[in-house]
Amino acid sequence: MTPFQAPKGTFDLLPPDSAVYLAVRDALSDPARRAGYGYVETPGFEAVGLFSRGVGESTDIVTKEMYTLTTKGGDELALRPEGTASVLRAALQGNLHTAGNLPVKLWYSGSYYRYERPQAGRYRHFSQVGAEAIGAEDPMLDTELILLAVEGYRKLGLTGFRLLLNTLGDRNCRPAYRAALQEFLRGLDLDEETRARIDINPLRVLDDKRESVRAQLGGAPRIVDHLCEECKEYHEQVRELLTASGVAFEDDPWLVRGLDYYTRTTFEFVHDGLGAQSAIGGGGRYDGLSEMIGGPALPSVGWALGVDRTVLALRSEGVVLDLPAATDVFAVPLGEEARKALFATVAQLRRAGVATDIAFGGRGVKGAMKSANRSGARFALIAGERDLAEGVIQVKDLESGEQESVAVADVVEAVRGRVAAVKGQLA
Ligand code: HAM
Repeated sequence: MTPFQAPKGTFDLLPPDSAVYLAVRDALSDPARRAGYGYVETPGFEAVGLFSRGVGESTDIVTKEMYTLTTKGGDELALRPEGTASVLRAALQGNLHTAGNLPVKLWYSGSYYRYERPQAGRYRHFSQVGAEAIGAEDPMLDTELILLAVEGYRKLGLTGFRLLLNTLGDRNCRPAYRAALQEFLRGLDLDEETRARIDINPLRVLDDKRESVRAQLGGAPRIVDHLCEECKEYHEQVRELLTASGVAFEDDPWLVRGLDYYTRTTFEFVHDGLGAQSAIGGGGRYDGLSEMIGGPALPSVGWALGVDRTVLALRSEGVVLDLPAATDVFAVPLGEEARKALFATVAQLRRAGVATDIAFGGRGVKGAMKSANRSGARFALIAGERDLAEGVIQVKDLESGEQESVAVADVVEAVRGRVAAVKGQLA
């Protein structure tokens, strides 16, 4: 055993569980891919300033949770704590927004890093699938994104999640709300740190999880009562479109997200089987972010879905994904001559598009058959010296146990046909 362990708050993905993560990433991103979102990949680190300006100087993410470093060249970098600022930066840098094709619709999947206190569902290295639609202000776009996320969860068989919906207003109506909220909060019995927060970011106080604070927030002013006409109308349209699409949601006037760039629509998907870290995904509109990072006005909306927490949610519901075995055929050579012959056959099968594996290391027949069974392959190819002398290979159906001799020259076609027939049956 190596004395090295994965760093605190992180974990490795290993087979067979790793296949579940791949399938979850695939299922969560599939609806967006099919709705015209193109793949974007950005570096795992960015200039610190992108996040402090974009995500917000006073957020926990920026003040407490960023992994920052100074390079040998003197650049201040941070491991990305989230994807939105990077994706927008990349779209601006690549001039995607000037190609006359707005919104620019992008999806991504990757690792994110936050120096948080690790607990169930909260890690320092975690994985998100995200989608961003940049450069359009249209309630239908906010709704499309929410529908795509719901479809991803449903595709996986997840049922126990709820959609919480709110609006945070815009630069016209938020300032007056903020002032009203500050006035209310100043009248409460709060500790020093929380009082300081009232000045910098009063909305965050609404998200305080402590009972002593929560108990005092009952009469706090709600943003919904302070919206300007445009924001009210916009929000109403999103609600109507969701209803017309048959997607249930709960209005949550206290929903505050942990990032500062949001305007108007905000939402979160929560799962009740997860305990404290119940958010399996979240997002919203960020009409001012582009200007905050030095770009032109580009109203945008997006989400990120937590892959790790989606896997936990599936587990809590007892959903077992139906993952077909990666390998269809497993070759078991008995003896040195057979190894060479089957190795060549395996290469031919692979070229013919049949997913094939072979026992390595000159293992005995027992061990090799065990590997064959473990691989999940439906068929085994078995050959010993006597078979080769007769010019045949044994093709064994590992499910029925039936075994048949097939001429070496015909084996690729025969096996390919059987695999296709089995898959056809399943389809
Ligand atoms: P977020 O709410 O910070 O939003 O993260 C989205 C999701 O990532 C969360 O709902 C959760 O499932 C997962 N997540 C976050 N932190 C952790 C963690 N420490 N461990 C495990 N899972 C975690 C954003 O990141 C925004 N960029 C979403 C967005 C996209 N808004 C607009 N576009």
